[in-house]
Amino acid sequence: MTLELSTAGESHGPALVGILTGLPAGLRLDRDAIQADLARRQEGYGRSPRQQIETDQVEVLAGLRHGRTLGTPLALVVPNRDHKNWTWGMSSWAPEGEATGKGKEAVTLPRPGHADLAGVMKYGHDDVRNALERASARHTAVIVAAGAVTKALLHEIGVTVSGSAVAVGGAEGDDGIREAIDAARGERDTLGGLVEVRAQGVPPGLGSYATKEERLDARLAWTLLGTQAVKGVEIGEGFALAGLRGSEAHDEILRDEAGYRRETNRAGGIEAGVSNGEEIVVRAAMKPLPTLMRPLRSADLATGEPAEALVERSDVAAVEALAVVAEACVALELARAAKEKFGGDAVGDFVAAYSAYVERIPWSPR
Ligand SMILES: Cc1cc2nc3c(=O)[nH]c(=O)nc-3n(C[C@H](O)[C@H](O)[C@H](O)COP(=O)(O)O)c2cc1C
Repeated sequence: MTLELSTAGESHGPALVGILTGLPAGLRLDRDAIQADLARRQEGYGRSPRQQIETDQVEVLAGLRHGRTLGTPLALVVPNRDHKNWTWGMSSWAPEGEATGKGKEAVTLPRPGHADLAGVMKYGHDDVRNALERASARHTAVIVAAGAVTKALLHEIGVTVSGSAVAVGGAEGDDGIREAIDAARGERDTLGGLVEVRAQGVPPGLGSYATKEERLDARLAWTLLGTQAVKGVEIGEGFALAGLRGSEAHDEILRDEAGYRRETNRAGGIEAGVSNGEEIVVRAAMKPLPTLMRPLRSADLATGEPAEALVERSDVAAVEALAVVAEACVALELARAAKEKFGGDAVGDFVAAYSAYVERIPWSPR
C-alpha cells in the first residue's frame, strides 16, 4: 500500500480532515510533535489575528491505538475554532432560523490573484465564498499534521526534513524581514518570498528515472506547486544552472572508505529523478498574498460594474508559514517514496529493508 493523503475541509467550516493511508503498523506518534508543527505554522511575523483565535489542535479519530499506528487509515481532524462565528454562514445543511454571524452576505467582489473569479465561473457559483473557502490555505493545517506523522516514519530511517524562510519581499535576515513586513503593512500591501526545505540522511535510490510519475524531482515540484501561492520551484541550484557550463554545474563523484560522496551539491541531492545520497535541497517561490487592505480593481459579479476587490482579514506575508507547510509536503513525498522502496506492513519491516539496502550499497549517511 502506498502512502497517500486525502484531505477535505473549508476554511470556516467545522473542521479540516485528512486521511493518511499506507502507514506501517507500530509507528509511535508523538502528539506534542504534531502540535509543535501546527503551532509553527501559525507563527511568523505578518500573520493575521486569526492565528490567535485558532491555536490548532489535532484529533486522531482512527488508525492509532495508545500512540501507535495500527497499519489502518489514520484519520486526522483539525477543528476550525473560528467556525463558531460562521455556524449559519457555513452550515452544511440549509441553515435554520435568522441569519446570524459571518458569511451571511454573498461575496461578489473577486480578488485578483485568488480563486474567486475563475472559481465562480468554473463551478457556477454566485457567491465567491463557495470558491474561496476551499482555495484558502487554511487547509494546509491538516497537511502539516500529516507531514508531522510522516516525519516520524522518516525518523525511523534517520531522515530529517526542515524548512525555513529565506527571504520575504526581497529582504533577508530577521531584521530585514520585519522591516519589509512593517513597511508593506503600513502601505496596506502584501508580500511574498522564498522558502527552502532541506532533507538530510536521504539514502540514494528514492524515486526513479523509469517514468515521469516516479521522478523525485517532479514529485517534489508537484507537491510544492500544489500549495497555495507557490509559483516556482527549484531543486539545488535550479534556475542558476541554466547559465553555467557543464564543468561548473555538476557534482564530481569521489570515493572514500565510507562510500561515494560529492564535494558540491548543485544537483540538490537528486540526479535523473533519483535521490543520490546527498542532502536534498528544494526552494519554492511564493507570490505576494492576493488579499490587499488597499484593494485592487475588480468588477462586481452581481452588477458587472467596476468595483474594488474583497477586503477580508488577511496576512501581510505568510512565508514563514509556507516554510512549515513546504517542510510537511516534502516529508510526505519523501516518506511516500521511502515506503515504495522499502515497503513493510510493520514499521520494523520497513526499517529492516532500509538497513539491508544500505548494507548493500557503498553509502553511509553523513
Ligand atoms: C500558509 C499560507 C497562508 C496564506 N494566507 C493568505 C492570506 O491570509 N490571504 C491571502 O489572500 N492569501 C493567502 N495565501 C495565499 C492564497 O491562499 C493563494 O494565493 C490563493 O489560494 C490563490 O492560489 P494561487 O496563489 O496558488 O494561485 C496563503 C498561502 C499560504 C501557503
